[in-house]
Amino acid sequence: MLSLRSVTKRYGALTALDGVSLDIARGEFFGLLGPNGAGKSTLMSLAAGLRPPDAGVLTLDGVAVTPSDPATRTALGLVPQSLALYDELSALQNLQVFGRLYGLHGGVLRERIDEALAAVGLTDRRRDQVKTYSGGMKRRLNLVAALLHRPKLLLCDEPTVGIDPQSRNAIFDYLEARNRAGLTIIYSTHYMEEATRLCSRIAIIDHGRIHALGTLDELLTRLPFEEEIGFPAIPATAALAAELGAQGTLTTLDGRHRFEPRADFPLSAFYARTEAHGLAPRLFTAARPTLEAVFLHLTGRNLRE
Ligand SMILES: Nc1ncnc2c1ncn2[C@@H]1O[C@H](COP(=O)(O)OP(=O)(O)O)[C@@H](O)[C@H]1O
Ligand SMILES: [Mg+2]
Repeated sequence: MLSLRSVTKRYGALTALDGVSLDIARGEFFGLLGPNGAGKSTLMSLAAGLRPPDAGVLTLDGVAVTPSDPATRTALGLVPQSLALYDELSALQNLQVFGRLYGLHGGVLRERIDEALAAVGLTDRRRDQVKTYSGGMKRRLNLVAALLHRPKLLLCDEPTVGIDPQSRNAIFDYLEARNRAGLTIIYSTHYMEEATRLCSRIAIIDHGRIHALGTLDELLTRLPFEEEIGFPAIPATAALAAELGAQGTLTTLDGRHRFEPRADFPLSAFYARTEAHGLAPRLFTAARPTLEAVFLHLTGRNLRE
């Protein structure tokens, strides 16, 4: 659906996007995961046609993304990172403004506004000025305002920063339902939990470059080890721990051993040894690596500075 080919964007001497190539297919819930300053919002604004790239090409269904083109405009919805709402107006009035900008009016507009307000739990507060809303309410309104015209691609730029868990869940549920109904979503975030929960594919972005791209499972295999096993440092496990030292990295902290097997050490061998020692399976916990660890491995820094 959306395709980027060697897209570069500079702000003066700073290269915010550095030769990014990406293909996003219809129906995807695509994640852009990266820390502040990675280039996520720049990518979103280019995808929305708000800025031209300095080099490279962006196409939407094979047609160059151009802001002035009405087809581009109606195909896209953008949920900007900084709220784009009129504070003095009510939710109802804001949605009327956005709907009319997209040529909606009359019964259709009323219906879509009612539906949008109900979907994010703002029906009761619809006549109150937006400036009286909590951060989470504003975020929910900012989200549905981008969808009134039923775009086929939603660009969602960090829509949950600094909000309460209830609003966050409402946003997740709403986006998941829209995606199941066929909406293609590009979602940027610096929270690995969000990318893990929501996204069918994830691009790890930093310093304007895509460092890795794939499903969660594919990204996790980028780590040098696949599994980490914890178990208590007690007499029953002492012999096992001694054996494991040569098979990977064994660290002991706070009465627990943590074992990171070497890449070529099969977990079946680990469990064979535990059985040979007569140890109960409940002594062991296998921890899945996290996206945070993948990010650190690929970029040498954490998602959150
Ligand atoms: N309008 C702008 N003028 C100058 N520099 C900018 C502008 N917008 C973003 N930048 C810089 O470009 C880089 C990428 O920013 P941005 O795309 O906003 O990243 P993210 O959304 O991932 O935090 C950052 O170093 C940022 O400071
Ligand atoms: Mg941003």
